[in-house]
Amino acid sequence: MQLTPEEQEMLEGKHGRATKKAMQILATLGTIYGAERMLPVTSVQIAGVSYDNLGEAGLQFLTEMAEGGGRARVLATLNPAGMDMENWLTLGIPADFAENQERVIDAFARMGVVTTCTCTPYLTGNVPHYGEHIAWAESSAVCYANSILGARSNREGGPSALAAALTGRTPAYGLHLDENRRPNLSVYTPAGLRGTHEFGALGMVIGWKMEGYESKPIPYIQGVEWASLEELKSLCASLATYGGAALFHMVGITPEAAQFSPPEEVMNITQAELERAVHSLNQSAAEEVDFVSLGCPHLSIQEIARIARLLEGKQVTKEFWITTARPVKQMADRAGYTQTIEASGAKFAADTCCVVAPIRGRFKVMATDSAKACYYAAGKNKFKTVFKSFDEVVLEAIS
Ligand code: F3S
Repeated sequence: MQLTPEEQEMLEGKHGRATKKAMQILATLGTIYGAERMLPVTSVQIAGVSYDNLGEAGLQFLTEMAEGGGRARVLATLNPAGMDMENWLTLGIPADFAENQERVIDAFARMGVVTTCTCTPYLTGNVPHYGEHIAWAESSAVCYANSILGARSNREGGPSALAAALTGRTPAYGLHLDENRRPNLSVYTPAGLRGTHEFGALGMVIGWKMEGYESKPIPYIQGVEWASLEELKSLCASLATYGGAALFHMVGITPEAAQFSPPEEVMNITQAELERAVHSLNQSAAEEVDFVSLGCPHLSIQEIARIARLLEGKQVTKEFWITTARPVKQMADRAGYTQTIEASGAKFAADTCCVVAPIRGRFKVMATDSAKACYYAAGKNKFKTVFKSFDEVVLEAIS
C-alpha cells in the first residue's frame, strides 16, 4: 500500500503513540481489502460509545488512545451513548453505569471529538456533501450518507472510525471507489408507501430477500414517488439492519440514481410481503405495552413537533422515551415542544436510545415505529414488540 510521507511518519510513531496505533489499524485494514492508498476524510462518526457495549476493555482502549496523545484531525462526532448525559437519573440508569459512561465520553472529549451522541449526525451539523470521502460507523447513518447525501463511506467499526478521526485518513477501497457504487438489482416497490413504519417494512423485505444473494447487491429502487427525510432515515436503518446494506439508489430521489440505468436483475416487492413484515414485528397480542419508544434513528425536529401536537393536554400512561440528539432537543426546548411533551409525562432520552441503554429485561412489550428498534429490542433487550405508525405509537402511550 502506497503511503504519503506524512502517513509514513504517522506509522513510524513520529506523531505520537495513539496516531501510530491508528495508522497501524488503517494500514492493516487497507492491506486486507487491497487498498492501494489512503484517502483524506473530512468527517467521522464513531460507534462503540455506550458503556453497555464497550465494557471495561473498550474503555481501557479509549483511555490509552487519549493518553497516547490522540487528537481528532477532522470533524468527528459520536454514536448514541448508554444514557442521557444530563438526565440519566430520570431514566432509571444506575449510578455506577453513569460513572463509567462519563469516563467514556471524557476519553473522547480529551481526543477532541465533538461529544454529540447521535446516530443522525446529518441532523446536527456533521453533514458531508456529495462525493465527499468520510468514515462513519453507525450502519443507518452510513446508508443515509452514501445513499441520500451521495457521500462515500464504508461501514466502519468503532476502532477504524476512531483511527480515521486521529489520522484524517481512510483506506481507498469499497464504497469509496466508483466501480463499487453501481447498482446491480432493480427493486420495484408497490406505489403509495407512507410513513416511517411502512418504509421500515420496505427495508425489512428488501433486506430479507437480499439474503438469498451470494454477494450483497446494491438496490436500484423504483416505484417510490416521494419520501420525506424521516421516511428515508427509517428505510436506511432497516435496510442496513435486515440486509446489511450500506448503499442503495432510488430513482428520482437519491443523487446518484440518474447516472445509472435500471439493472437487468429484478426483485419485486409485493403489498403482501410488506404486510407480512409488519405482522412479524407485532409479537404481543395478549400482553400490554409497557414501554413506548420513538426515535430510532434519532428524531428530527419535525417529528418532535408532531409528538408535541399529539400529546398537547394529554397524559401518558406508559414509560415513553423520545430519543434524539442533544442539539435537536435544544431546538425543541426553544420551540416550547419540550415543555408540552414533558407536561404529558413523556421523557426525553437525548444522547441515547432504547437499544444502547442498559435496559435489558426492564420492560415486557415495546411499541415503536422502527423496524430496526424491533430487531434489537427483541434480540438484545428481550422485549416483545408492537410495530405501528408514528401517530399510532404516540396514541399507544396515552391509551
Ligand atoms: Fe440510532 Fe439506536 Fe436506532 S443508535 S439507529 S436509535 S438503535
